[in-house]
Amino acid sequence: MREHPSDRVDLRSDTVTQPTEAMRKSMASAPVGDDVLGDDQTVIKLQDRLAEMLGKESALFVPSGTMSNAIAIRAHTNPGDEIVTETTSHIYVYEGGGYAALSGCSVALVPGELGIMTPEDVSKAIRKGDGSLGHFPNGSLVCVENTSNRGGGTCYPQETLDAIAKVAHDNDCAAHMDGARLFNAVVATGTDPARIVRDYDSVSICLSKGLGAPVGSVLVGSSNFIALAHRWRKMFGGGMRQAGVIAAAGLHALDFHIERMAEDHIRARKLAEAIGDMDGFEVDLSTVESNMVYISTESIASDVIQSLADNGIDALDLGPNMIRLVTHLHITDEDINRTITAFASL
Ligand SMILES: Cc1ncc(COP(=O)(O)O)c(C=O)c1O
Repeated sequence: MREHPSDRVDLRSDTVTQPTEAMRKSMASAPVGDDVLGDDQTVIKLQDRLAEMLGKESALFVPSGTMSNAIAIRAHTNPGDEIVTETTSHIYVYEGGGYAALSGCSVALVPGELGIMTPEDVSKAIRKGDGSLGHFPNGSLVCVENTSNRGGGTCYPQETLDAIAKVAHDNDCAAHMDGARLFNAVVATGTDPARIVRDYDSVSICLSKGLGAPVGSVLVGSSNFIALAHRWRKMFGGGMRQAGVIAAAGLHALDFHIERMAEDHIRARKLAEAIGDMDGFEVDLSTVESNMVYISTESIASDVIQSLADNGIDALDLGPNMIRLVTHLHITDEDINRTITAFASL
């Protein structure tokens, strides 16, 4: 699939996708209502669909993944609590310190291997106010990210996810999954989404990444949790009115863009193998489980990015010697070949 209005090969992120013609048609014809008043049937359909797919009671449509995580953190914690998350997680690195500013929480960071924490390390990181003579904050929420963005698009093994949720619950903590790319994990591991998230109290799903919708995320959990989340969405200014127009894009994506992500994964693998074989570049193939390729380079990454851009290939530098490529629904086999040729010519 391409349907991209440019002949550049944009591998910066899976967030760069534009709605396809078919998606735009479904958006244009979507029945809408005032979702703040609870009568947008398309939003309700999207929420119900995702709750069912994830085996949870209820769901809430929100503008972004960042807001979805922020609402989850706010709804699971009280000011003065502590959240536990992995050192490179999006919640810690890329959400503006929202856990502190919006929820009044501190953070206990757990070092991960390619973004994946162990249950033992999570257990060590949970501190409780009770029994500490008031010294410790109250660890009340454990967050995992699946797939892990900075880990390289890596997927949590199911037994690790289950064990981390158990550690959280045994310590009176809630368990939240930042599943911005959960469906990449579904496709990569061949596991049913409801099974992956079974033991998690809340899950945040992004529609605007590999799924290819232009905007929107959905927070999923129990009815009680979503009732609380609904109130926080209001306070965070995330209530949207005729949001069915964008929810329709999400429904279209769930119908047509999940299985096709397997192609993104195959293309990422092809890029990784070809570039990893070239002098001056290194790729740890064991990290390439979904749609991301992290490339170490001996050169200055920003120089490499500039040379690629001159050849029509857009990539991101995520460190002085680190380049990231992400495949998505506008990237074709021909684009992969063009990219490999561009790297070979550097
Ligand atoms: C793992 C992860 N979580 C959350 C987000 C936040 O999503 P948004 O950009 O919609 O706020 C991102 C965005 O890239 C992400 O990669």
